[in-house]
Amino acid sequence: DFIQQWVGFDEMEQQIRLKYGISKVMIVPGESDQDESTKSLLGQRAAKVLGECLTDRSYIAVTGGSTIASIGPHLAAFIDKKQLTFLAARGGMNEKADVQANTIVSNFAERIHAKSKTLYLPEQMSDQAYDMMVKEPIIKEMISHYENADVVLHGIGDALDMANRRQASETEVALLTKNKAVGEAFGYYFNAKGEPVHRIKTVGIQLEQVEQSPIVIAVAGGSSKASAIGAYLNKAPSQTIFITDEGAAKKLVNQL
Ligand code: G3H
Repeated sequence: DFIQQWVGFDEMEQQIRLKYGISKVMIVPGESDQDESTKSLLGQRAAKVLGECLTDRSYIAVTGGSTIASIGPHLAAFIDKKQLTFLAARGGMNEKADVQANTIVSNFAERIHAKSKTLYLPEQMSDQAYDMMVKEPIIKEMISHYENADVVLHGIGDALDMANRRQASETEVALLTKNKAVGEAFGYYFNAKGEPVHRIKTVGIQLEQVEQSPIVIAVAGGSSKASAIGAYLNKAPSQTIFITDEGAAKKLVNQL
C-alpha cells in the first residue's frame, strides 16, 4: 500500500508538472486543511528542497503566510550555510505578525545563524509616497536584491481569503470580485487564467523579479486552495518547483 501510494504520487506529480509547464512538483501525504501536521510536512519538504538549491551566499526572497512560516522549524536539519541572506519580499501587512514576511525572515535567519533583510514599510501607500520611497538608498538596495534574488520562496492563497485576511477595503474586494480574482501570490491577485488582475502597489518583490529569479519555490496545500493554486500555476514561471499536499494535488488532478 505504501509503495502504491508513492507510485500514485509520482504519477500525479508528473501530471501536474506537465499541465502547468513547471520544473518540478512534489507531493507530501495528507491534507493540510484538516491536519496541521501536513503543513509541517510541507515545511519540511520545502526546507529540504531549499537546502539543495543553495550556494554559500544565496539571497532568498521570502513571502508571508502560515505555510512559509512552517518551513522555519525544519531549516536547521537541511541547511548549514551562515552566509545566506533571507530577504523579506513584502512589506508590513494588515496580518498577524507571525505570518508576515518580515517576521519570517528574521526567524529563519535566527534558526540557522544566517542573515536577513527586512522591509518595514506599509504595504499600501499613495502614489506620492511610493515615488518618494523608491528614491531612498535603503529601498533602492532592497529592490536591487529582489532583482538579483537567487531563490524566491512563496506561498499561494485564495484571492478573497487573502483580501479578508489583509482587511482589504470594500472597494478593493469589489474590484477583486469584478475582475474574477481567484488566486493570490506575493501581493498579486490572479484570475483563473493566471493573469494578474490586481496588485498592491508596493516596493515589495514584483512579478517581473520573480520571473527573473533562477529558482522559484511555491509551497501551498489543502484542497480548499486547489482553484487558487491552479489559477496561479497557469502562468507560473517555468522554473517553479511546486510543493503541495495530497489534498490539493488530488483536486488539481481531477480538474485537469
Ligand atoms: O500568499 C499567500 C499566502 O501567504 C498564503 O498563506 O500559507 O497562510 O495559507 P497561508
